[in-house]
Amino acid sequence: MTTITDGVYRQPLPASREDALSSLAGFPFPFPHETYCYSANVEPAEQVRRSAAGQWGETVIDIDRHYTAELREKDRVLTVDPQRYVALPRMISAEWDALLAILNELATVYPDHFTLSGTGDDRHWSNRLSDPPVEQDFTVGDTSTLPCAPLEFAGRQVQEDIALLAERDGMLWGDSMVVTFAADWSPAFDAGMSFPEIHGPVPRVHEAGIVERAQKFIMGLQPGQRFRRTNWTLTIDGRLDTGTESYPEWGPDRLSVVNGPLTEVGDRVFLRVEVQHLIRLQWSGAVMFLIRTYLEPLSAIAQIPEWALRVRDVLAELPEDMAEYKGVDRTRWPAVEWLETYGAVDATRPDTGN
Ligand code: HEM
Repeated sequence: MTTITDGVYRQPLPASREDALSSLAGFPFPFPHETYCYSANVEPAEQVRRSAAGQWGETVIDIDRHYTAELREKDRVLTVDPQRYVALPRMISAEWDALLAILNELATVYPDHFTLSGTGDDRHWSNRLSDPPVEQDFTVGDTSTLPCAPLEFAGRQVQEDIALLAERDGMLWGDSMVVTFAADWSPAFDAGMSFPEIHGPVPRVHEAGIVERAQKFIMGLQPGQRFRRTNWTLTIDGRLDTGTESYPEWGPDRLSVVNGPLTEVGDRVFLRVEVQHLIRLQWSGAVMFLIRTYLEPLSAIAQIPEWALRVRDVLAELPEDMAEYKGVDRTRWPAVEWLETYGAVDATRPDTGN
């Protein structure tokens, strides 16, 4: 891959086969079937999922070797576009609730790196993994004791993006978000929208009743309950920030893959998987939605032959409206061709009409 020097973080390519395999070991491969269709695919959180390369899913918040680089990228994106943090004023107590939930989770699951100490409302946060480390005294409920809003502070401690949903008039509303790694959507545009409105552009899910069922499911979550689901797309050149606002920066990359040499496709096209957690917060009753993004280039995926075959099958079969919505309607074909040519995938496949 050509080195690009625009200050944007791109996930590095694995240095060796061993490096690729160690990275794939925790990758949440999202395709249990040969074909992919939308569903309200939720399951309880924290259940370990074994995969052909290893396992994933043991924790709600996942810290990996890209932690410091991804936190730096978050800082860059929030500096360039502060609107990636959006908040309705009525969400401030939910923001504190979310902050304490995140910090407690980090300190409990990764005690070597994080500590939340103090009593009552006077707390101290220690993040020794971040570069530079964070040592922060704060008073719960007093925003002036933090360097930024509570939700933004929470977002700056984890690789996850965070949205908070409030329940009103029998619906969920996406009222507060800190989202720097959106897969082709805009937190600033979506903030304050209802759950069905947020999903407005998604094909099929409305007619299939998926949005309604998902909303009902989420509204039924009890305090402390945690569920998860996955979502996926393709991303070019390992870029995490593919939000609507930065589209002019990354949109043309798709065409350059389609028109570029096939030999480069394996290192340029990444399978992008989101593990999304749904958590009903204890005190405010808001729902916290965590989106953790994983990227692996096809050249790494090809190290696991059954994954290479599955990705080829799913991409080749994906209905055109879903492919178009996901923005993979053109890039999926070079991806399929690369997997068949260099990914050791047998080129015979059933005729699906695509
Ligand atoms: C069980 C819960 C949920 C289900 C079943 C669900 C389903 C979906 C599906 C199928 C898509 C299309 C994804 C793609 O093809 O790439 C989507 C997109 C999206 N979802 Fe959800 N979702 C759920 C929860 C949430 C929550 C809690 C939020 C909170 C904000 C959310 C925000 C979004 C956004 C922003 C998009 C992109 C929409 C766009 O293109 O503008 N989803 N969702």
